[in-house]
Amino acid sequence: MKTYNWGILGTGFIARKMAEALSFVPQARLYAIGSRSKQNALEFASIYKTEKAYGSYEELVSDPEVDIVYVATPHNLHYENTILSLNHGKHVLCEKPFAVNGAEVRRMIEKARENKLFLMEALWTRFLPNLTRVKELVDEGVTGKIRLIKADFGINVPFNPLHRLYNKKLIGGSLLDLGIYPVFFSLFFLGEPVKITATAGIGSTDVDYSCSITFGYKDETLAVMYSSCIAKTDITAAIYGEKATIVFDNFWYMPVPVKIIHSDGRSENIPLQFEGNGYNYEVSEVIRCLNEGQTQSNLMSWDDSLLLIDTLDNIRKEIGLVYPEHDI
Ligand SMILES: NC(=O)c1ccc[n+]([C@@H]2O[C@H](COP(=O)([O-])OP(=O)(O)OC[C@H]3O[C@@H](n4cnc5c(N)ncnc54)[C@H](OP(=O)(O)O)[C@@H]3O)[C@@H](O)[C@H]2O)c1
Repeated sequence: MKTYNWGILGTGFIARKMAEALSFVPQARLYAIGSRSKQNALEFASIYKTEKAYGSYEELVSDPEVDIVYVATPHNLHYENTILSLNHGKHVLCEKPFAVNGAEVRRMIEKARENKLFLMEALWTRFLPNLTRVKELVDEGVTGKIRLIKADFGINVPFNPLHRLYNKKLIGGSLLDLGIYPVFFSLFFLGEPVKITATAGIGSTDVDYSCSITFGYKDETLAVMYSSCIAKTDITAAIYGEKATIVFDNFWYMPVPVKIIHSDGRSENIPLQFEGNGYNYEVSEVIRCLNEGQTQSNLMSWDDSLLLIDTLDNIRKEIGLVYPEHDI
């Protein structure tokens, strides 16, 4: 079986998680790191034992030995870095949000289609065993008809206008960074809503520091979501059905336990097993697709990413949040 050489763009928090994750997946090999700074690349390479350390993103994507690029840069660069990689004939796994808006995502998909390359949004929660099992249970009818979904993701990050969560140039704000998870969760179980309402607290750096979102569906079903970078919330998610409720533990978007609460009050833990650091599941899916010559995953397809980004665009319209350098 072929081993795929991975190149990572960026040396920050998530790049390090991915470097660890790759070591759990047999056909994946961390081969190269690309950074804006040679010094950062060398430090990263010495910790994670990459063969190559490049002081620019261009050099990494120009290495013919790189099979797939993982884009781990701030939101404002996802489009640019993905197109750069696809133009150099590399498959791409790009962090969430896939890009700033639907127009950028459409151009990325078009480029991947044109160049016959694999492209996927790294929404790691989608590939975790807990979410996968819950989807099976819901599809089997364990909850009955879903009547309400509730999911939140609020953290309290000390204010720093340069931090990527607060910095408008880096496409900061709670919605695209944190709110994307609850929005994904609701879309995953209920699909496209018929009505979207949202209210945000827009802070001094002109991005949303907190955002509350409600999706309306036919038959009075609702999804209620909340994101924040100024308020620490429960960070739980629950699916309330006519027959049972399914509750994800705190940090629900991670590999955490999940329980079913039946209508008679009986509570039952869902048997689950996790391996690695959680990010390995999305890597395994990429490898599976590459082995099978697929350019997209049916678990997180291009249409799934388009629904997600178009919904985020619609929420941004509701809260009046524009990123002028991208939303043209
Ligand atoms: N899936 C998850 O669980 C998860 C968790 C956290 C973040 N993320 C996503 O991953 C991406 C990166 O987040 P992060 O937390 O890893 O961020 P981070 O720690 O700030 O790292 C971002 C990296 O991007 C590079 N970069 C390029 N231009 C930059 C700029 N103008 N300012 C700052 N860094 C720049 C830097 O690497 P060099 O200077 O070495 O090039 C930096 O180390 C975001 O899209 C975020 O939404 C996902």
